[in-house]
Amino acid sequence: MSSYPQLLSAFRLGSSFQLPNRAVLSPMTRTSAEPSGMANERMVRYYTRFAKGGFGLIITEGLYPDDAYSQSYDNQPGIANDAQAESWIPVIRAVQREGAKIIAQLIHAGALVQHGRFAPIAPSAVKPVGAMLEEHGGSGEFPVPREMSQTEIRQAVEGFAQAALRAKRAGFDGVEVHAANGYLLDQFITDYTNLRTDEYGGSTERRIRIVAEVLEAIRAAVGPDYIVGVRISQGKVNDFHHKWAGGEADANIIFERVAAASPSYIHTTEYKAFAPAFSEGGPTLAGLAKRYSGLPVIANGKLGDPEAAERLIASGDADLAAIGTSALANPDWVNRVKEGRTLNPFDHQFLHPIATIKEEELL
Ligand SMILES: Cc1cc2nc3c(=O)[nH]c(=O)nc-3n(C[C@H](O)[C@H](O)[C@H](O)COP(=O)(O)O)c2cc1C
Repeated sequence: MSSYPQLLSAFRLGSSFQLPNRAVLSPMTRTSAEPSGMANERMVRYYTRFAKGGFGLIITEGLYPDDAYSQSYDNQPGIANDAQAESWIPVIRAVQREGAKIIAQLIHAGALVQHGRFAPIAPSAVKPVGAMLEEHGGSGEFPVPREMSQTEIRQAVEGFAQAALRAKRAGFDGVEVHAANGYLLDQFITDYTNLRTDEYGGSTERRIRIVAEVLEAIRAAVGPDYIVGVRISQGKVNDFHHKWAGGEADANIIFERVAAASPSYIHTTEYKAFAPAFSEGGPTLAGLAKRYSGLPVIANGKLGDPEAAERLIASGDADLAAIGTSALANPDWVNRVKEGRTLNPFDHQFLHPIATIKEEELL
């Protein structure tokens, strides 16, 4: 018998989601879509493996929601029009046939655009720190983005809502708003990338405002029962070590405000989900999300070790554990854990020089 009673126990998410276990496939961009942003047969075969491998809930890689300024990467899939949404139907059907649920992650690049086809927009004209992501086809520094007008903010918010509606119509079981890891919504939350003096900048309350507006607009579009999650982090793909300056007080404001916009869950991601979010011995970010939101929490960050995932869930800080790189090395992570089989270690070389889906990952 398995020694992970919490991790392998069922969980009910929202009013109708009965999940067989607590493991979730973490969203991972693989830049393997068609140049038009359509999902393809390779992606069907890639995603189905995780469902067959025991994951009860799969969160897709980040899909760009609109045709204006939201795309980050070449060969990133989109959900900016009906054709792109419909291209996911074979993926959705294949995953659901295996008994799993599938949630579409929606991501707006903001300043983190690295395909060069348009000049990026962002809360403020602040050049992103760090360098472009080579594994997603970029190189060198990011350009300085243009400050968004209030009309462009409204259009971006509406873009998320329309994309969520297309996801629902295509048959996705839910959507997740990517407000983490340095992309547009996180650029609003982050003090040094948001220098605005209007109601979207300044205090933490104002910097989280757009995230709440996106969640409210989505909720209005998809109705009360559809699964709508939101991903929140401190660290970023271009700034791993960032911490919220206000510490726990910021966490309180952010998670309370987000919860008031009625998402179905909060997904926190940290380098190590089980490490204190701020000071030594203090609570985890997942624990703070739970405390201040009262919502179901998915935690992510180095939970590929099932002992760590079991402990975090048992502690009450999180309900579900999102598994990233360890799932790439073990698409059947859940079945291996259940059966007490050894897990393959993840080797970062796997994503170099480019993070596209490899032949050996296909069903
Ligand atoms: C190749 C790759 C692509 C990723 N793309 C996304 C993404 O599209 N959206 C997102 O929220 N996180 C993305 N992430 C972050 C993962 O979801 C996860 O947070 C990270 O791998 C840490 O979890 P782990 O310690 O279990 O690997 C990506 C990670 C990797 C390795």
